[in-house]
Order: sequence, then structure tokens, then C-alpha cells
Amino acid sequence: MYSTILALHSLVRWFVLISLLFALFRAYNGWFSKKSFSSFDNSVRHWTATIAHIQLVFGLFLYFISPVIDYFLHNYKEAVHQREIRFFGMEHSLMMITAIIIITIGSAKTKRRQTDNEKFKTMAIWFTIGLLIILTSVPWAFWSLVSRPYFRPF
Ligand code: HEM
Repeated sequence: MYSTILALHSLVRWFVLISLLFALFRAYNGWFSKKSFSSFDNSVRHWTATIAHIQLVFGLFLYFISPVIDYFLHNYKEAVHQREIRFFGMEHSLMMITAIIIITIGSAKTKRRQTDNEKFKTMAIWFTIGLLIILTSVPWAFWSLVSRPYFRPF
């Protein structure tokens, strides 16, 4: 169970990143080229937030079943000084929840904006902030202190 959710969480990270990049491409292009906010753009907005929510569910689930988090919560005083344990116990989880809240607010605000240009601009700004937080909080394989594979086998 744990290894399956971990592999799914690792895989869904790519869907989160690809959907955000595509949404941002549509948003900046629409904003600067003064395009009309089509129903396709609205679907892109909706699905980008939904994919982030799916990742949130996997992440929260992992938080309850991960042996790393179990160690963190039961040995807090020592674990908080161990880089990798603290990263997953605090930094990764809090930063990712923050990013997903920002994406959710951005999506809701975009929906309520009156003009097409305001919709593109709102989506561009909020999703950019969300993406930047996510990019800095993924345990990339090239990181030296906390490193996880790009693809984890099921
Ligand atoms: C966009 C949001 C997120 C992305 C892109 C993301 C990405 C990742 C990646 C790439 C890993 C490493 C997987 C591996 O070892 O192969 C990971 C691990 C983990 N994530 Fe996330 N994550 C996100 C959100 C969250 C959230 C919201 C939580 C919890 C509230 C969370 C909890 C965890 C935990 C506990 C682990 C490590 C578990 C372990 O090693 O036992 N993640 N995440």
C-alpha cells in the first residue's frame, strides 16, 4: 500500500507540473495577446486545480502511512535535526499545502473575474506563485541533501 501510494505521488508530480506549465502558457499568451477566455481555457483552469487536489489527497494519505513521517512524529526532538526527515515531516508538506491553497484561490478568483483579460492575468499570477513554490519543494533527484528518483517503479 505505502509503496503504491508513494509511486503514484511521485508520478502525479509530473501531471501537476505539466498541467501548470500548460495553464501558464495559455494564461500568459491570452493575457498579452488579449485573447478571449474560451471554454477550453476554463477547462484548463479547472483541471489544473483538480490535478493539484488529487496530489494533495495522495500527499495527505502518505503523511499518515509513511514510516518517515511516523519516525518524525514519534522522535520529533532528534528527527527535527535530520535533514531528510525534517524535509518530509515539515517543509515539503507545509510548502506543498501552501502552493495548492494558492492554486485553489487563483482558480476561484479567475472564475469570478468579469473580463477575459482579468481572467488570464489572475490565472497567470496565482498559478506562477504556486508553480514556483512547488518547484522549490520537490525532492529533485539532482538535490544533494534530499534526493528522490524522477520516476519510482510501482
Ligand atoms: C504539488 C504537490 C506535491 C508534489 C509535486 C509532491 C512531490 C513529491 C515527490 C516527488 C516525492 C518523492 C516521492 C518518492 O520518494 O519517489 C514526495 C514525497 C512525499 N510527499 Fe509530496 N508532493 C506534493 C504534495 C504533498 C503534500 C500536500 C503532502 C502532505 C501533506 C506530501 C507529503 C509527502 C510525503 C510524506 C512524502 C514522502 C514519504 C516517504 O518518503 O515516506 N506531498 N512528494
